[in-house]
Amino acid sequence: MSNENGTNQNGHSHGTDSDKTLTTRQGHPVTNNQSIRTVGNRGPATMENYHFLEKISHFDRERIPERVVHARGAGAHGVFEAYGRVGDEPISKYTRAKLFQQKGKQTPVFVRFSSVIHGGHSPETLRDPRGFAVKFYTEDGNWDLVGNNLKVFFIRDAMKFPDLVHAFKPDPVTNRQDGERIFDFISGTPEAMHMITFLFSPYGIPANYRQMQGSGVNTYKWVNAEGEAVLVKYHWEPLQGIKNLTQTQAEEVQGKNFNHATQDLFDAIEDGNYPEWELLVQIMSDDDHPELDFDPLDDTKIWPQDQFPWLPVGKMTLNRNPENYFAEVEQSAFGTGVLVDGLDFSDDKMLQGRTFSYSDTQRYRIGSNYLQLPINAPKTHVATNQRDGQMAYHVDVPEGGNPHVNYEPSVMNGLQEAPKAGKDYEPYYAAKLVRQKIDRQNNFAQAGERYRTFEDWERDDLITNLVNTLAPAKKEIQDRMIDLFTQCDSEYGQRVADGLKAAASMNIQKGPIGSTSSKDAVKQAQEESH
Ligand code: HEM
Repeated sequence: MSNENGTNQNGHSHGTDSDKTLTTRQGHPVTNNQSIRTVGNRGPATMENYHFLEKISHFDRERIPERVVHARGAGAHGVFEAYGRVGDEPISKYTRAKLFQQKGKQTPVFVRFSSVIHGGHSPETLRDPRGFAVKFYTEDGNWDLVGNNLKVFFIRDAMKFPDLVHAFKPDPVTNRQDGERIFDFISGTPEAMHMITFLFSPYGIPANYRQMQGSGVNTYKWVNAEGEAVLVKYHWEPLQGIKNLTQTQAEEVQGKNFNHATQDLFDAIEDGNYPEWELLVQIMSDDDHPELDFDPLDDTKIWPQDQFPWLPVGKMTLNRNPENYFAEVEQSAFGTGVLVDGLDFSDDKMLQGRTFSYSDTQRYRIGSNYLQLPINAPKTHVATNQRDGQMAYHVDVPEGGNPHVNYEPSVMNGLQEAPKAGKDYEPYYAAKLVRQKIDRQNNFAQAGERYRTFEDWERDDLITNLVNTLAPAKKEIQDRMIDLFTQCDSEYGQRVADGLKAAASMNIQKGPIGSTSSKDAVKQAQEESH
């Protein structure tokens, strides 16, 4: 594996070492790579056969645990170019983050796109949110913007995340995804209706990774040099346009190619057809906004664009494929805690829960020194007093530093604290510690609005996919869901109810969510309900 300078661990230049001799990892030339060592050519084998034992035992350890969610993914390198402004204003008014300040300033990035629920080689045509995680290697260290394609999420409290994921993952007995289990959970989770409306529409199956949007989903903060903060939401808009698939189109693609999104991204970059996204932000003053009918920190809500315009801040271009999938894509590690000066957390309860989860899982999935791997290491000065641990690869002593001093403070040429970049942002808190839901839940209004703003074909696809998934579920779960759809929009509820009535006489099988086993029944129901 090469490091940032393109050299391997022996200091040999990657790709220029002309000696093609096969060796063991100990540097011993391998003279026979065909046969294990045996007593006579029919065996038995001997245990001192070091070359074989090293080869097979490394192979036995080739897999690391896959991501507990977002296991299936594809990645690419690129560059982010700042506009130096946010809309018409200088960006320094809102944030002192260095990567945004000057027009034309370039910051290298690595992006990983993914689907969420199924395993590492699952089809890329499944109905699922898509991950959109960006690592910015800034001069102030790394910033990870870990987003999705859809702009809202199923839940607003991190406590519920493991339950949500268990409901969507395969049944622990049958090992199959089961719409009945999903809607059993969702029918008791009314805040999910906005996300469900997106997920079962064509937005639930982006045509590929290049033609999909991205969103930070959670609310963050920006902090300026005076220590003043604003609330901020991030959006990525694909300059290639947006393209989604209906369920039927997705099944046609899947019949021929279940890696189509990975292939599309890789081939586009290989052909020099570099995908681009503009980064836009929405800004709100840093308070509760009692005038709104939703809580600005609630990630099941969109901030209306007419009140909070999308303001462009820069553009990202992906222009280089990974050289090795495992080293760069599988071992990449993104987290919501990875912010740079001038960017901050909001009190969004999901964001705070996420921030613990990512680095926690990465210490387990990759190892305690995962930040020493080239794909995760910042491309700037790094000097810590962290030492040792599994697979420690180097020690962070700067040139001229004292390798004996791995603590701080010290008068013996140890590491020292950095000067402050601006005034501290110091929000004031005074409230009871509680376990409570938020006040302004408003679970249905935006979901109903979404239903009404879809085009006819998108609405038809939404109803078909919902009916197909709900048809094999218990009547009680169907009724609870119809009630929730009706609270979003009465026509929405009616169309699902009519579809389920027509589907009742058909023997609809459980399948992956949205699957078309019952297409004819649903078509008939839709015709009758029009
Ligand atoms: C991946 C937890 C909500 C986007 C992951 C991983 C965990 C996790 C444990 C695996 C990370 C790894 O192995 O490297 C959580 C928790 C959440 C939450 C606890 C809620 C409390 C969200 C939301 C979004 C999101 C709301 C969208 C904004 C992603 C993405 C990845 C991911 C894009 C894949 C990153 C990659 O490509 O490596 N999440 N997540 N997650 N999550 Fe979340």
